[in-house]
Amino acid sequence: MLGKLNHVAIAVPDLEKASALYRETLGAKVSAPQALPEHGVTVVFVELDNTKVELLEPLGEGSPIAGFLAKNPEGGMHHICYEVPDILAARDRLKADGARVLGDGEPKTGAHGKPVLFLHPKDFAGTLVELEQV
Ligand code: CO
Repeated sequence: MLGKLNHVAIAVPDLEKASALYRETLGAKVSAPQALPEHGVTVVFVELDNTKVELLEPLGEGSPIAGFLAKNPEGGMHHICYEVPDILAARDRLKADGARVLGDGEPKTGAHGKPVLFLHPKDFAGTLVELEQV
C-alpha cells in the first residue's frame, strides 16, 4: 500500500527563522511560504534529493498544530507523509482494520494540490501519519 516517503514535517513557532536555518545554516533549497487556510498552517518545503522536509507554522485561530507547539515550544517532528496510489482504497482498508482517520474521513487537498488524509498517531506507533495520493 505505501509508496515513497513524500515528506517529514516539523512544526515550528517561527517559519521565517526556521526557513533561514535550513537555507543558510544547513545550505538547503527552501520553497516560498504557502498559506493553507483549510489546514490552519503556513508551509515551506525544504527540497532534498530524495525527499522533502515540510516546515509548518500555525495559521489563524485554532490551528491544528497550536496544541503541539504549546507542548513543544521550540518545535518538533509533527508528522510523516507516505505516498499511496489510491487514497480512498487505502483509507477503506485501514478503517476496516480499525485505524482512525482524522477529521471527517474525507481527503482534503494538500500542499501539493493532491488529496491527503491524516491517521491517528495512537494507531501508528505514536506518529501522526499523512497519506498523499500521487
Ligand atoms: Co504534510
